[in-house]
Order: sequence, then C-alpha cells, then structure tokens
Amino acid sequence: MAIKTIILFLVIVFSITAFVVSTGNSHNNSAPNFECIGCHQGEGSTEIKIDGLPEKYIPGKTYKITLTIVSDNQSLGDVAGGFAIEASAGDLMVTDRKNTQLSEGFLTHTQEGSAFRKWTFGWKAPVQKTKANLTVMAVAANGDYSPAGDVIGTKGFSIKPEK
Ligand code: HEC
Repeated sequence: MAIKTIILFLVIVFSITAFVVSTGNSHNNSAPNFECIGCHQGEGSTEIKIDGLPEKYIPGKTYKITLTIVSDNQSLGDVAGGFAIEASAGDLMVTDRKNTQLSEGFLTHTQEGSAFRKWTFGWKAPVQKTKANLTVMAVAANGDYSPAGDVIGTKGFSIKPEK
C-alpha cells in the first residue's frame, strides 16, 4: 500500500516535471529577468567585452555590436552562457534571430544562443542627443542546466553623442 502510494507520487512528480520542462520557458532560452545574480552563483572570473560601440555616437546611426564573455569557468555541457542587455536610450535590435531575442525590454540569448559566450546585435543610437547607458549582465554557465556553478559578470557602458 505504502509503496503504491510512493509510486503514484513519483509518477505525478515526473509528469509535472515533464510538463514543465516541455512547455516551460526554460532559462537557457532567455533570461527570466535582468538580475542573473539573484539566482546564479559560482566561483571564477568573468570579463565582459563589447566591440563596435563608438567613443561618441552619431545620432540615429545603427551600430553592430559584439558581446563576449571571457571566463575561466569551463562548460561541460551544451549550454555555455547567456546574457541580458538594457539600453537607457536608443534601440537594441536583433540582427541574429537564431541566437538572440528581445524580451521585456532587454535583449537576451535564445536556446540556440546559450551554446555560446559571444553574440552580435544592433544598437540604434537615439536621435535626440542624450547620454546613453548600456548595461550588461551575463552568465558563464557550466552547462549543468542549473543556476549553480555559473559565474556572473556585469558591466556598464556609457556613451555620449558627438558634437
Ligand atoms: C529567477 C531565477 C533566475 C534568474 C534571475 C536568472 N536565471 Fe538563469 N537559470 C535559472 C534556473 C533555475 C536555471 C536552470 C533551469 C533552466 O535552464 O531553465 C537557469 C539556467 C540558465 C542557464 C543554463 C545554465 C547551465 O549551466 O546549463 C543560462 C545560460 C542562464 N540561466 C542564463 C541567465 C542569465 C544570463 C540571467 C540574467 C540576465 C539569468 N539566467 C537569470 C534561474 C534564473
């Protein structure tokens, strides 16, 4: 009797898990929110690099940006990393639909994109001449499909319009 109850319980738990996994918005397919640090933690170093941002922007111009996470945290699985970026001015633009997407105001990785630690996207500078801040939060994942053992990096970039 007790064993039957346990088996029934396990069957229910497995069904729910399978349902959540198959329909749920898993986090290696986009970040649930900007604060990776609230859930992910691990030991190691990370450095966030951005290429393609000008010293001073030309209002209205679109720049092609490459974001790279450099970390000593090795991934042992299919998932290597993820990120989210927010811009205080201008527009973040998806240029690589397979690996990046826009979600709730920030640009983030897709499931395919979580296989990498490097992504490209666009940033259209604002037309009105204002200072723009780009803030990045990134995770160098160890590929175990959990938030443990993943190293976080965060960095802000501030750019002004040219005169
Ligand atoms: C509310 C908690 C929470 C927040 C906030 C969060 N994550 Fe996660 N993340 C998880 C959980 C739970 C998993 C494991 C399950 C899954 O993949 O859905 C995960 C898995 C991942 C993985 C795969 C990890 C691996 O080792 O396989 C990546 C990459 C990832 N998240 C990126 C991010 C990034 C980037 C951010 C912030 C911009 C972020 N997450 C914010 C909870 C969170």
